[in-house]
Amino acid sequence: MSHRRLRSQDWFDNPDHADMTALYLERFMNYGTTPEELRSGRPIIGIAQSGSDINPCNRHHLDLARRVRDGIRDAGGIPIEFPSHPLFENCKRPTAALDRNLAYLGLVEILYGYPLDGVVLTTGCDKTTPSALMAAATVNIPAIVYSGGPMLDGWHEGELVGSGTVIWRSRRKLAAGEITREEFLEAALDSAPSVGHCNTMGTASTMNALAEALGMSLTGSAAIPAAYRERGQVGYRTGRRAVELVNEDIRPLDILTRPAFLNAIRVNAAIGGSTNAQPHLAAIARHAGVELKPEDWQDYGYDIPLLANVQPAGKYLGERFHRAGGVPAIMWELLKAGKLDGGAPTVTGATMADNLEGREAVDREVILPYDRPMQERAGFLVMKGNLFDFAIMKMSVISDAFRQRYLMEPGHEGVFEGKAVIFDGSEDYHARINDPALDIDERTILVIRGAGPLGWPGSAEVVNMQPPDHLIRKGITSLPTIGDGRQSGTADSPSILNASPESAAGGGLAFLRDGDTIRIDFNQGRCDMLVDDAELEKRKAEGLPKVPDDATPWQRLYRQTVTQLSDGGTIAGADEFRDIARRPPRH
Ligand code: FES
Ligand code: MG
Repeated sequence: MSHRRLRSQDWFDNPDHADMTALYLERFMNYGTTPEELRSGRPIIGIAQSGSDINPCNRHHLDLARRVRDGIRDAGGIPIEFPSHPLFENCKRPTAALDRNLAYLGLVEILYGYPLDGVVLTTGCDKTTPSALMAAATVNIPAIVYSGGPMLDGWHEGELVGSGTVIWRSRRKLAAGEITREEFLEAALDSAPSVGHCNTMGTASTMNALAEALGMSLTGSAAIPAAYRERGQVGYRTGRRAVELVNEDIRPLDILTRPAFLNAIRVNAAIGGSTNAQPHLAAIARHAGVELKPEDWQDYGYDIPLLANVQPAGKYLGERFHRAGGVPAIMWELLKAGKLDGGAPTVTGATMADNLEGREAVDREVILPYDRPMQERAGFLVMKGNLFDFAIMKMSVISDAFRQRYLMEPGHEGVFEGKAVIFDGSEDYHARINDPALDIDERTILVIRGAGPLGWPGSAEVVNMQPPDHLIRKGITSLPTIGDGRQSGTADSPSILNASPESAAGGGLAFLRDGDTIRIDFNQGRCDMLVDDAELEKRKAEGLPKVPDDATPWQRLYRQTVTQLSDGGTIAGADEFRDIARRPPRH
């Protein structure tokens, strides 16, 4: 039992509002709760339920919540489960990214306006994790992340097939005429053999790994497959720990410090994590009031080697990764190499270093030692130039063939010049990519714009554009691509993405024209269109490319408030919200 006065007591046991207490209490009685329970001074722990039929990646949380409730009860708390706004990556049109800030807003209102002392954040599918952490940072009541875990490994015709990744790879095989549409579908369905989120190191597994790296979930919990018995067991422990967090008054902002974010950036490189981690971590940091600069990705992440042999950068999937030691084994390698701040506090109550002590990997095929990695320098390269102020490139998915073709030209190592072919949005790309008139060859750079937070709206995962079928049939399976959108965390494409400011916000991509030469200098981290100033001024006078009108009320509100991907695509003013949420609710 807690000896401090709890937040929930402002509702249920407040002499200043004694007349309101009856109203606050009575409807909780109608499912059998008693006034004694709610007035006992025991912590009331919310379970933010992200699972539903419309969010299948998280749906098993509906069942797992039973074990979370058991843990909360056994530790002396009272569970109250409530739904959060669904965020299903694969089906929400025009993109689930549009809804991340909406889910954030909804969760903030619930955590702020109801009698909750702490919260278990159930996470899984891509944006469910960052939206929950953003809200926890704003309201700053004790909070702990409980991932639903990845699906079991997918197998198709004797080969591992990972969710998402199988789509991008099969799409190339389909274009090359190697498989039929029916075989495409079969492989995709086989990649999803059980409950859980994507079993590749896509955005879901990445963001849950980073929640653990930030110190916001129990050690070793992120990677446990959804269907394993350990998943329910760690749910029970998470529920227990949520109550203790309230008793010990450990809050998200005690944990979400700059060292924790830098740890997360390093872990992201070592696991070959999703490029979506960049805007999501930026958003969480902003809501937490932590300064995280776009260049931090290069300064702290770029030099970190790839240690996880997991798709899309590697070979294996979630089950093998978990059995090899999961996130703690990766972090233990980084800690031993002096690449982690071990003093960072965590929800366990111990430091990160204490949590990780001795978590040696047990399968070196899947988690490699720091000094014998899959690949050196596997983090994000941060780029700028006259096309944008900021963009990133994920180095862990750049294939040897691609390096040979574009980065190793004798005398021009690391510098590539090509002609731009531009698409305004993905409909334009799909309609025209196979048009022979475009004359695309292996010196072409594919550019997509109108895909950022304002343009899409929401920012679309479309920069992983594949070459036209005729090139794929010749064995050219990827071309350099640039865009102001994002790309799927499960994609293995060599793309320069998240370009900010986007075309619709007046970024340089808006003034690029078909046939312009683009110079990409990997040594300098620059990307420029070779167009003279007078010509550029002329094009600026022509205005920005058109983007679609708002199609829902939220799209309009979102566009009025959103920042660029370099700033996390948050609602503008995000760094002030936690100060607002310090004002106690009025009764
Ligand atoms: Fe939900 Fe990948 S689509 S986790
Ligand atoms: Mg995605």
